[in-house]
Order: sequence, then C-alpha cells, then structure tokens
Amino acid sequence: MERKEQSVVIAGGGSTYTASIVMLLIENQDKFPLRKLKLYDNDAERQEPIGKACEVIVKERAPHIDFSYTTDPEAGFTDVDFVMAHIRVGGLKMREKDEKIPLKYGVVGQETCGPGGIAYGLRSIPGVLELIDYMEKYSPNAWMLNYSNPAGIVAEATRILRPDSKIINICDMPVAIKKSWADILGLESETDIIDRYYGLNHFGWWTDIRDKEGNDLMPKLKEHTTKYGYATAGEETNPLLSEESWADTYTKAKDIYAVDPDTLPNTYLKYYLFPDYVVETANPNHTRANEVMEHREKNIFAECRRIAENGTAEDTNIVAGEHAEFIVQLASALAFNTHERMLLIVENKGAISNIQDDAMVEVPCIVSKYGVEPLAMGPASTFQKGMIEQQLAVEKLTVQGLFEQSYQKLWQALSLSKTVPSAKVAKDLLDELIEANADFWPELK
Ligand code: NAD
Ligand code: G6P
Ligand code: MN
Repeated sequence: MERKEQSVVIAGGGSTYTASIVMLLIENQDKFPLRKLKLYDNDAERQEPIGKACEVIVKERAPHIDFSYTTDPEAGFTDVDFVMAHIRVGGLKMREKDEKIPLKYGVVGQETCGPGGIAYGLRSIPGVLELIDYMEKYSPNAWMLNYSNPAGIVAEATRILRPDSKIINICDMPVAIKKSWADILGLESETDIIDRYYGLNHFGWWTDIRDKEGNDLMPKLKEHTTKYGYATAGEETNPLLSEESWADTYTKAKDIYAVDPDTLPNTYLKYYLFPDYVVETANPNHTRANEVMEHREKNIFAECRRIAENGTAEDTNIVAGEHAEFIVQLASALAFNTHERMLLIVENKGAISNIQDDAMVEVPCIVSKYGVEPLAMGPASTFQKGMIEQQLAVEKLTVQGLFEQSYQKLWQALSLSKTVPSAKVAKDLLDELIEANADFWPELK
C-alpha cells in the first residue's frame, strides 16, 4: 500500500527529546513518510538551538521534508495530521521543586508520583488543554499523541474537559522495561513480546508475557527478576541503565516483584511500595532534575549548538530513542491502519473488569485508523485493586481540585497518596507547594 505523506508538529519543540524524535522520523521515512515537519514551543529562546540543529539534520538527511519551527500557534498547528506533544510547564526548574519540597518532609520527591506528580499535574493540564484547542482550531482532523506528564492525571483532565477530542495519552516506561526483557530473553526486539498488562499510568502489572508463537515467557522472567530485578545480568543495550538512578530503579524491581509474585510490576511502583527506601536513598540537595539538567539537557543543547555552528550533523551522537520509536509506531498505526497492539492510557469502560468505567487506565489496545480499542484484561487481584483504587482517587481528586480550585480536594488528594504519611504532612506540603507554584496554579478557595 502506498503510504500517504504526513504532516507533523512536535509541541514542546525545545524539549530534550525533540532531536531524537526528529532523528527517528527521518530514519523511518519508509514506514511513516513526511511531507512537513514543524516544531512549536511557547519559548522562542529555548526552542531556537534545537530548531536550528533540526533544520540542518533534515536538510542533510531528508531534504524532501518541509521543516520549520515557530512560536506562533497558527503557523504551528495549521495543516498537520499529528501533534506529538511533550511539554513541561515550568521546566526542569519546577521539576526540581516538585522533587525537593516533598523530601523536606521526608516524603517521596518524584516527577510524576506523590506530591510532585500532583503539583506537576496542576501545571501541566492547562498547557495541554491549550495545545488541544490550537489543534482543533487549526487542524480539526488531527490526532494529538501526548507524552506530557503526569500522563495519567493529564488523561483524567482531558477525559472530563475534552471527551471528544482526538488525544491519546502515552507512556514509554512499559516499552523501556520490555526492551530490558528482550535483552534478558535473547529476543531481537521488544515488539516480539505479546503482553497482558493493566493498571494506571506508572502504576501497573503484567499478568502474561509471551513470544509470538505463544510460548510463556513469564517463568524465565520471574526467575531472572528474583535475582536481578529488571537489570540485565550481562551485556547492556538499554541506554537508560547506563545512568545510576535508573539502574537502581531496575534493580529494585526485584523487591517490588517479591510483594506480588504472581505478576511482574512497573518499576514506578517502588515509590508507592518502598517510599521509605526511596527517601532514605535520595539526596535532598541533588535530585533527578539536577541529574537531567547536568547531563541530558546540557549535552543535547551543546550538541545542537555545535550542529548549527558547523552546519552539519554528519558526525552527531544524537540517536533515535525508544521514546521516539513508540510515538512513531502509534502514529503509523493511526495513519496506516496497522492494527498494532500497544499499551496506551484510555478510559477503562470494562477493560479492567472490577475497576470503575471512568478510570483512565493503561492497558493493551488495538490501534487502527478508527482510533484505539482497549482489550479486556479481566479483574485485578484484591491487592492490586486496592492499590489502583487508592491512587485513582488521588488522581481524580487532583483534577477536581484544579477544576474547582478547591484547597480541600487537593488536601484530600495529598492525604490519600500512599506516599504521604498523614493529613498533617499533606497540609504542610500543600501550603508550601501552593507558594512554589504561585505562577502556575489558580488561586484556591
Ligand atoms: P523540557 O523542559 O526539556 O522540554 C519541554 C519543552 O516544553 C520546553 O521547551 C518548554 O519551553 C516547552 N513548553 C512548556 N510549556 C509549554 C506550553 N504551554 N506550550 C508549548 N511549549 C511549552 O522537558 P523534557 O525533559 O524534554 O520532557 C518533556 C516532557 O515529556 C515532560 O512532560 C516529560 O515528563 C515528558 N515525558 C513523558 C514520558 C512518558 O512516558 N509519558 C517520557 C519521557 C518524557
Ligand atoms: C520514563 C517515564 C516518563 C518519565 C521519564 C523520566 O521514560 O515513562 O514518564 O518522564 O522516565 O525520565 P528522566 O530521565 O527525565 O528522569
Ligand atoms: Mn511515563
């Protein structure tokens, strides 16, 4: 079948991930051909170095693509088939506060989990809603594929306020974990793994893992996880694991697994099941945001400036990442009706049979040009159901708290989070988060 050329805008053009998405798009012109590629950001200065470098990269490697970058919503969102969104409202500086403020109270400080995730959610939701509105105004038939975190909380907000919008919220963590498993199992690619998985975003479990012939891969993976977690025992091809904090998270999967050995867990469950360990091993003065600013952000911006200065990217070390692969796979499935099976964040509507219909859950879906169809995963166990419902209430209260500008609901959200020990700590934390987020949050009543 002849594949029609697509037009894409990457929103959050100044993101540390943009260049690797552009690289992957260029490498996949046979599977997902492009006629136009744009970057859009609301911060011209931030986007410029990335935009200039991508201009060189596209000219050198895929000159047929019409490339541009802009901060004008009309220019960015007109004539596009896909919006690939990954904005970070408040930037890495606010991520640093999301991580450091809770740690002061002895509570997990994390980008998407616990108080940090709640704070980030309140900043992110209005930003993502604005992008949807631009898309619907200038390209009403387009799809938005949204990575912007906290993806589960953002998904709950879009479910309520933009129920008919063509937005799919996504996460690359399960893919990253499956890449490690492919290494462990000696498979060529994680796409050789057919899985059954359910939960919320950054909060789920695998119940079944098979190869394409239907052979059960769980016993071997369980044996490995008991010893090493998700870290591979030998040669490493997963780039995440070259970073110490991620390597620790993958190893910790061993302890998370031990709590519920019938299933294999998402690594993010460490923040809910082992918050004491997470706090004890954190450095309250130097968190993941600092690591990202000192490494990924610094390196990518230096490399983009170098490309722009030299006018060539022939020798660049920027590579297409798994983050990029997943989003392009999803866009291809929607554009070319491939019926790909992918883990996505969707409205439950019975997919997890004993969880309420209006929960935004993460489950395998079949993706075609008609959209996404969740697969039935059956009931969650008593343990998992209890955990899911607690966290689901946190996420719903967070979104209600924002929409109703309700101090009370946000206090409840924080009090209910498994990462927070008491309503007293929740209140102190909320008061400090309100101050830190004064430029972003609405006034609370
Ligand atoms: P970053 O700060 O480097 O980049 C984000 C960009 O968004 C910046 O250039 C910023 O100017 C821009 N931006 C902020 N608010 C905007 C708005 N309202 N409109 C347009 N642009 C806006 O961040 P990063 O580390 O590259 O991460 C980007 C996002 O991707 C984050 O939300 C991160 O959590 C998310 N992410 C999600 C997943 C996932 O699994 N869902 C995986 C990786 C990253
Ligand atoms: C994974 C998660 C993302 C998260 C990212 C953080 O990819 O799925 O949701 O944003 O990790 O990675 P970082 O390197 O920024 O800490
Ligand atoms: Mn994620």
